[in-house]
Amino acid sequence: MKKDIYIRISKSLQETLLIGKKIGKSIEQGTVICLSGDLGSGKTALVQGIAKGLSVPEKYYITSPTYNIINQYPGKIPLFHADLYRINNSYELEDIGFYEILNSENIVAIEWAEKLKNEISSDRIDIHMQILDDTSRKITIKLYKENLIDLKEL
Ligand SMILES: Nc1ncnc2c1ncn2[C@@H]1O[C@H](COP(=O)(O)OP(=O)(O)OP(=O)(O)O)[C@@H](O)[C@H]1O
Ligand SMILES: [Mg+2]
Repeated sequence: MKKDIYIRISKSLQETLLIGKKIGKSIEQGTVICLSGDLGSGKTALVQGIAKGLSVPEKYYITSPTYNIINQYPGKIPLFHADLYRINNSYELEDIGFYEILNSENIVAIEWAEKLKNEISSDRIDIHMQILDDTSRKITIKLYKENLIDLKEL
């Protein structure tokens, strides 16, 4: 299948939050967002924006779920935010019910998703964040199926 690829330069944290918000507003139910990129490239910042777009209440402050691996937030569509940085094998993920969550109608955003890429279905968006300098990030978005988000809105 031809994949839609969209590239965008963000010049500030605020811009990344806004791009995330627009993604969250238009995203289809059941979409998995696979985030990759260096430490500090803005994966969590983008998820904070996505949460805004999904109307996750302000009282939830989203941080990398490095120690508990996955966090859940209520929103227009429930948002699950996972960080696989410390995961060593898929059994650890089975234990916490990760695969059931993946195959749900929720939105699942996964940092360090490259650790399990091939196990993820076609309702998937890959987002790669690259550090250009202190305040600039190159954001590459790849859609595996049309219309998972509205690219025109970004
Ligand atoms: N254009 C930008 N977009 C996003 N973050 C930016 C930008 N410019 C600077 N920053 C800074 O980069 C950092 C991004 O941190 P964030 O926790 O989102 O990264 P991360 O990719 O989730 O890292 P980790 O792999 O450690 O979880 C923040 O300190 C933020 O202020
Ligand atoms: Mg993070």
